[in-house]
Amino acid sequence: MKKLIFSIMLIAAGVVSLTASTPAYLDESRPVDDRIEDILSRLTTREKVAMLHAQSKFSSAGVPRLGIPSFWTTDGPHGIRPEVLWDEWEQAGWTNDSCVAFPALTCLAASWNPEIALLYGTSIGEEARYRGKDILLGPGVNIYRTPLNGRNFEYMGEDPYLASIMVVPYIKGVQSNGVAACVKHYALNNHEVNRHTTNAIVDDRTLYEIYLPAFKAAVMDGGAWSIMGSYNLYKDQHACHNKFLLNDILKGEWGFDGVVVSDWGGTHDTPEAIANGLDMEFGSWTNGLSNGKSNAYDNYYLADPYLDLIGEGKVGTKELDDKVRRILRLAFRTTLDRNRPHGSLCSPEHIAAARRIGEEGIVLLKNTRGVLPIDPERVGKVVVVGENAVKMMTVGGGSSSLKVKYELSPLDGIRNRLAGKADVVYVRGYVGDPSGEYNGVVTGQNLKDDRSAEELIAEAVREASDADCVIFIGGLNKSAHQDCEDSDREGLELPYGQDDVIRALAKANPNLVVINISGNAVAMPWAGDVAAILQGWYLGTEAGNSIAAVLTGDVNPSGKLPMTFPAKLDDVAVHKLGLYPGTPRGDGSKTVDCNYDEGIFVGYRWAEKNDIKPLFPFGHGLSYTDFKYGKAKVDKSTLTHEGKVTVTVPVTNVGAREGSEVVQLYIADIKSSVPRPLKELKGFRKVRLAPSETAEVSFEITPEALSYFDADTHSWVCEPGAFEALVGSSSADIRGKVRFSYDDSVASR
Ligand code: GLC
Repeated sequence: MKKLIFSIMLIAAGVVSLTASTPAYLDESRPVDDRIEDILSRLTTREKVAMLHAQSKFSSAGVPRLGIPSFWTTDGPHGIRPEVLWDEWEQAGWTNDSCVAFPALTCLAASWNPEIALLYGTSIGEEARYRGKDILLGPGVNIYRTPLNGRNFEYMGEDPYLASIMVVPYIKGVQSNGVAACVKHYALNNHEVNRHTTNAIVDDRTLYEIYLPAFKAAVMDGGAWSIMGSYNLYKDQHACHNKFLLNDILKGEWGFDGVVVSDWGGTHDTPEAIANGLDMEFGSWTNGLSNGKSNAYDNYYLADPYLDLIGEGKVGTKELDDKVRRILRLAFRTTLDRNRPHGSLCSPEHIAAARRIGEEGIVLLKNTRGVLPIDPERVGKVVVVGENAVKMMTVGGGSSSLKVKYELSPLDGIRNRLAGKADVVYVRGYVGDPSGEYNGVVTGQNLKDDRSAEELIAEAVREASDADCVIFIGGLNKSAHQDCEDSDREGLELPYGQDDVIRALAKANPNLVVINISGNAVAMPWAGDVAAILQGWYLGTEAGNSIAAVLTGDVNPSGKLPMTFPAKLDDVAVHKLGLYPGTPRGDGSKTVDCNYDEGIFVGYRWAEKNDIKPLFPFGHGLSYTDFKYGKAKVDKSTLTHEGKVTVTVPVTNVGAREGSEVVQLYIADIKSSVPRPLKELKGFRKVRLAPSETAEVSFEITPEALSYFDADTHSWVCEPGAFEALVGSSSADIRGKVRFSYDDSVASR
């Protein structure tokens, strides 16, 4: 007994002595800020600087001496990138790093469903966590300014309000796993040509009304723990160390307390990187460990050059400590959080999520004579035509390229769904890019086909002529000058002669369905000749099942376009005004000045201002049922300074099957002292309705929704006067309007 008491006393003493000497930073009962200060006080200057830059292609140093882990980053916004070698882009050749590819973010945006965005972020965050990643390099929210931008597929469309609402749940979902979202590319990275040298010239009003809102929402509503600077310049400073974007706006006006990460190779200057808000430098030039230094990463701008400036007394350590504090705060949110979940990889739940996101994002653009949905019980012969019916799309496109557990092609999805019901015949139709390897990831597909275009079309027409239904699956792909990073498309047209194939098929069979797989709008000169059109997006691992479910009506399509589909390129502001891709400065620098002279008139804002009829308008998407809107009403006729007006509209499913409708709210300023768009999206709600069911859909409007940004006063202004709330099924399908006024002289009651 005495021994027991003695040993208990020893343990107690031990605990006491442990508690007494436990460093503050290990004491979880203490506030994080105290723990950060304790660590900071223990770090040498060299240890602090080492935390500011990469130590390998995708990781940065921790502090081994204090047990502070390295940070591991990973691409990308649609899935977790396969492992690469320590200091190379090449694959590491692991066998356990396959992932689920979720649909591209344009598809997520097209769902117009914040619940889906939360499902997306939670799922991809679980995959990142399981793979031991601490910073997910995504989502991207750059605004869609030209349909030629190679990276639009990674972003959330042309409207700042839609992107602002959809990005927040994605971030919260990712970060619920103890993984930081790294929202990119901040800011004004709106095309890929000259992406490292383009100097964006934008007025403040346009910046604040169009290009910043999604990033502001990411920070202030989403609580993003990191932001990635973009490659381009703004006000002649690289965005990765830009005083205006990082110090004044992000960290100043928005109070961002997280970490600014450079894009890979986006850092160009040590003094600017020190002073202008960059916290972690990745991907700057390094030829690995072969340049005679113990570690080439010590050559980074925020590495030895920074240490040298400190050592020479040319800079202090105030900025250094601020950067390290932010990095340590990120550590306590991720690597030092002992309670964060463990994640999961390639789970049935993630596969189901990928399928559901795809099903909710697919947009039914056209459907005549009820050609869709296909009835599996009644269709006999179905002919599937096109390279995109079989080509793997989870590979390629740049840094978002993935190595997937599997990818179910549209053809296989259709074959699986119609198995035992219909005779599904596949013909190539056209040959696009038969390559099957990207950055070391090999698809294993042999898409080589030496037949001529004429032979391919003849075969397709032959098979189509006696089919009950013909499904052409084409569009773009992830090759250079298609939907791909570091290059832009060279025109709005479909590549590889697809228009000829579609026209020939339309002549051969009136029951032609075209599925466009792309991350961008494309020209569709044959749109009037085909019975139905689906916008398919890049749908990831479950592409085939998502498409088959919509084609056969297992799922009623509910997607809406997050960008305008122009009839021709000249209908787009930047092309009409000759602003793309900008003008080389010609002063011996490589700078290309890109003027955003179209200002706030981007997308539908431009089309409506200039009375241009798009091929398919922003917010457009059909259903297999129909929705009837009742009369829109407001609960009061005058909105006061701190008040709100509630707009309500009854929406009824008047069709024979269940379906979801995205009810959209636009606001028009009837009379303003400044030029304003005819209307702007300021609310949306996706409602699921059974046949004959009615939902009273309501929106709360505050002065914020009525305001424009006044550059002179650097503030948001809501002018007194008349406004109109417009509700509808798309920007061009307005089903109800109701007026109200704003009176700032009346204090709210
Ligand atoms: C790329 C991309 C960025 C990506 C990073 C790491 O150049 O611009 O989106 O996360 O480098 O691959």
